Amino acid sequence: MAAIPVKIFIDGGEVEETKLVSETLVKRFGKPLDGQTTNPSLIAKNLAGRKTGKISEDAALEEYKRIVQQMSKIIPKGSISIQVFANRQTTSGEMIKQARERVKWIPNASIKLPCTSQGLRAAGTLSNEMPINITLVFSQEQAAAVYEVSKKARYPIFISPFVGRLDDRGERGMDVIKNIVRMFEKGDGHVEVLTASVRNLEHILYAIYLKSDIITIPYKIFRLWADQNFPNPAETYIYKTENLQEIPYREDVLLGRNWQEYNLSHDLTDMGVDRFYSDWMEVAGRGV
Ligand code: E4P
Repeated sequence: MAAIPVKIFIDGGEVEETKLVSETLVKRFGKPLDGQTTNPSLIAKNLAGRKTGKISEDAALEEYKRIVQQMSKIIPKGSISIQVFANRQTTSGEMIKQARERVKWIPNASIKLPCTSQGLRAAGTLSNEMPINITLVFSQEQAAAVYEVSKKARYPIFISPFVGRLDDRGERGMDVIKNIVRMFEKGDGHVEVLTASVRNLEHILYAIYLKSDIITIPYKIFRLWADQNFPNPAETYIYKTENLQEIPYREDVLLGRNWQEYNLSHDLTDMGVDRFYSDWMEVAGRGV
């Protein structure tokens, strides 16, 4: 069976899934999972599943730490993304403080920051201190800003475009991967493209075809892929989608400017920040 030509991460908040996926990969390919992505919604789902009701923010944070520590034991050489908690008012200083605490939880942490001006400002400082994953990316222009703000990074930098959330509203999310990969061809290769918000097998196949560096896959979709014996796309592969509107390549978005000159705003980024925050607050209550 052909090896998988890109890095595979699991997207989730359940330790058991990490274990099952990594064991499957070891059995089939002789190598474990390359990494794990988590986010506040996924961890909140795990905590809500325990039906303990709302717990204090400190207790919830301790649980987040315990979960990623268990994941880290399963894939000690993998990269594990831990997200900061931010709403639209959270400053870069607050994100930096959270990041410096969370990165100490495990030796293989990568800190996830939102693709907002405060998030990227924090990334500019932190990329000299720790691996960074910029999350909630929905446009080529946001990707150009991530590239520029992390240009002097001394640690790995991932960028996570969320393809499924664009598909959900009728836009062809995979075009953002295609466009970013194309734009980064002119760069120095310091940012790895991590295809996120994967909803189906075609997302995996096309991400491999486009040479996305990493794909993070939810357990259910990983199982579908495994059940079909981990198909790879043929050289003649054509991404088949119906009723999704093309997101064209922007020739006018060029690398090489100051990161603050790019337009970072995207409504799905704002909505994503809100959703992560409210999902977390559902389980981790103030005053509990
Ligand atoms: C990635 O890091 C995110 O956790 C994830 O892929 C989000 O996916 P969703 O759009 O299914 O929530």
